[in-house]
Amino acid sequence: MANENLGLQQARRNKRDEFYTQLPDIEREMRHYRKFFRGKTVYCNCDDPFISAFSEYFTKNFEFLGIKKLITTCYRSQEINLFSRNDSEQAIKLEYEGGATNSLPSSSDMGVSVLNGDGDFRSDECIEIMKEADVVVTNPPFSLFGEFVNLLNAHDKKFIIIGHQNALTYTAVFPLLRANRIWLGYGFKRNMAHFIAPHYEDTASDADHKAGMIRVSGVVWYTNVDHNKRHEEMILVRRYHGNEAAYPRYDNYDAVEVSKTQDIPMDYNGAMGVPITFMTKYNPEQFEIVGATESEGTGASAGLWDKSSRVPQAMVNGAKVYKRIFIRNLNPIESDI
Ligand SMILES: C[S@@+](CC[C@H](N)C(=O)[O-])C[C@H]1O[C@@H](n2cnc3c(N)ncnc32)[C@H](O)[C@@H]1O
Repeated sequence: MANENLGLQQARRNKRDEFYTQLPDIEREMRHYRKFFRGKTVYCNCDDPFISAFSEYFTKNFEFLGIKKLITTCYRSQEINLFSRNDSEQAIKLEYEGGATNSLPSSSDMGVSVLNGDGDFRSDECIEIMKEADVVVTNPPFSLFGEFVNLLNAHDKKFIIIGHQNALTYTAVFPLLRANRIWLGYGFKRNMAHFIAPHYEDTASDADHKAGMIRVSGVVWYTNVDHNKRHEEMILVRRYHGNEAAYPRYDNYDAVEVSKTQDIPMDYNGAMGVPITFMTKYNPEQFEIVGATESEGTGASAGLWDKSSRVPQAMVNGAKVYKRIFIRNLNPIESDI
């Protein structure tokens, strides 16, 4: 019975992971990395070559981007086949090195072969392929996001991948963000994406509803490829001095609460707690990431937490606030008060 339950849980998790990125969302993000792709081997390692819009994007734009090689592999497990749009029972690999005679490559222009294993991105077979690649570009399963980032990091790979903003404070992710080794990409409109999800029963209101699609809010791009947006300075319009009441000190952290990113003051030089969505505006020349609330992992606050409170969430006047990242303004203006 216990095993049956585990199997069901796994199947549900797999089902939740089975949705597909739309081509326009990929195009909107990739245009910011055009020059980077020249001469690179691109690997989409969670992508069925016949249905993935990532694979489609890179084959269609192969010559335009000057890519050296595209490799796409997909995962096949019994449960996945129940939900997938693809009938293929085996995990497959596509290799494309350009040179299609027509402007759009046909399947005969691409080398498609069967993988030995199930195409799990953690398998030795897929790791060997990853080693050959310069950059991994995909939307990996959200349920394995931490493992996915760990693997890329262990192999020092460049990547541009989709994930949920909740993953910002994962132990596999946050230390890399803090060390400026990874960051967010340009992002989706209003941090929200519609993914193609054939199995999904849509319960959204009429205005949100799109047939065959699932709407996921809080979706972002994670990358370690440099881009212009992360060097744009956020314009700060508020002041701390003279407005101290608007920035209460936490009961249990040595920092002040800034409940909205747009309210970050220009003249405060200590630690400030901000919502995780701040990361979409983060510029490493303007701010330093100090830590996160201890609710995101022991030691995450880099000493800002008053342990005697025993409450890991940030508290203001006895009330818990949602998870926070602590930052410091690297160039605060002198206060004239
Ligand atoms: C969120 S979907 C995105 C699919 C595709 N990358 C896209 O963006 O359209 C995640 C995909 O990862 C696949 N997947 C699940 N577990 C995997 C694993 N261990 N290794 C590789 N792929 C996996 C799922 O089958 C699913 O198609």
